[in-house]
Amino acid sequence: MRDRNDLVALAREVAVNAYAPYSKFRVGAAVLSSDGLTYTGANVENAAYPSSNCAEATAIAHAISEGVRKVDAVAVACIDAPSLSAAYPCGRCRQIMSEFGVDEVHVTAGSGSKIRSHSLEELLPHRFTL
Ligand code: THU
Repeated sequence: MRDRNDLVALAREVAVNAYAPYSKFRVGAAVLSSDGLTYTGANVENAAYPSSNCAEATAIAHAISEGVRKVDAVAVACIDAPSLSAAYPCGRCRQIMSEFGVDEVHVTAGSGSKIRSHSLEELLPHRFTL
């Protein structure tokens, strides 16, 4: 893993595995753990809509279930978004990122190569923690 471009490329690759028959909005995510390993996930929808899972939540759950406890960065590829301005992690995913100490979030949209990066502090200020 050299830089954010590599993490975004992984997110883009896994986005094609999304199960999104309802929204037709496929998303892939790749997380970089503090020990330098990467884990991926895609959104998995359900006929009972609230039972769906976002790509970021899937990828973070994947990492955590492999023993990771600190995530440094998350890349999100919204490959069906018409533009970067239609591609932001939802509030629930921001809170999940907060739990595992995410520092940076990199977002891409459509088939374009533009990447928009955020600190988690920017995405979720005044967050709830215990
Ligand atoms: N979705 C994600 O997986 N991540 C995001 O950052 C935004 C939204 C999913 C949830 C749902 O399956 C679909 O995209 C449309 O909201």
